[in-house]
Amino acid sequence: MKRRKDILGLRELEAEEIDEILTVGLSMKKLLKQNIKKLPHLGGRSVITLFYENSTRTRCSFELAAKYMGAHVVNVSSATSSVQKGETLVDTGKTLDAMRSDVIVIRHPVGGAPQLLAKTVRAHVINAGDGMNEHPSQALLDMLTMRESFPTLAGRKIAILGDIGHSRVAKSDLFGLTKLGAEVTMYAPRTLLPTGIEHMGAKICSSREEAVEGADVVMGLRIQLERQHAGNFPSLGEYAKFYGVDETVLRYAKPGALVMHPGPVNRGVELTSALIDGETSKIEEQVLSGIAVRMAMLFLLTKEEIA
Ligand code: CP
Repeated sequence: MKRRKDILGLRELEAEEIDEILTVGLSMKKLLKQNIKKLPHLGGRSVITLFYENSTRTRCSFELAAKYMGAHVVNVSSATSSVQKGETLVDTGKTLDAMRSDVIVIRHPVGGAPQLLAKTVRAHVINAGDGMNEHPSQALLDMLTMRESFPTLAGRKIAILGDIGHSRVAKSDLFGLTKLGAEVTMYAPRTLLPTGIEHMGAKICSSREEAVEGADVVMGLRIQLERQHAGNFPSLGEYAKFYGVDETVLRYAKPGALVMHPGPVNRGVELTSALIDGETSKIEEQVLSGIAVRMAMLFLLTKEEIA
């Protein structure tokens, strides 16, 4: 990977860099599948996770990824830190920097917060999700999971359905997938489509069926109730019926199309329970890919200093 201090989004990564992370991530995943969880790649480094929003998958998998490669890991949550006493993000960053942290992994409800932190600190910064902006490690793990089924993503069709407007995952997936040559179709209520998304490379469809027709992958998105303003859609039942992924719409996809969701999933809303637990569901596989791809990110970001 070209010399980078930080990984803040897929908008800025080049296709070759994404490909390298996926290649290393696939090797890491093979080791994880053999239950190998003791690697030397980050020996003696310190990784701090700094989370201003709730998380299960992202925080735990960054922690495990770092620990499996021999790093010291400290988890800081805004709820129990000096943020509650009024400390600013910049001052918190300077404090963690003064402790000689090597990598800070940050999740923040405000888009752009990781960029601000990255400018302030000497440590490498990884964006673990910022507001409605980007969630690069999620998109990388999604692509890694797809790459296990398809040797190349070029020419593959990925349909993304649901709350695209509030979704940092959808934006990072769009940037990454189109850079690797995939076609991305999207369908959402008009109120949940961000302005200008079609200029970022997405094909916006006028029905679920059009979006899913011939797709290799069908991805549902979590309805982000915490970021909603009232009135974006009439009810959860209607959202599920018209914008969710169910068996009826999946018939339009290619036979055996992968069913994916970044999690956490609202069962029966974004996806039917049968599809979540079905044979073509990759949701649990995505979780393991999350550790593997985050191992790759941490290793590639710090490797020249370690060598
Ligand atoms: N997909 C995802 O970011 O999940 P968490 O909020 O549990 O980290």
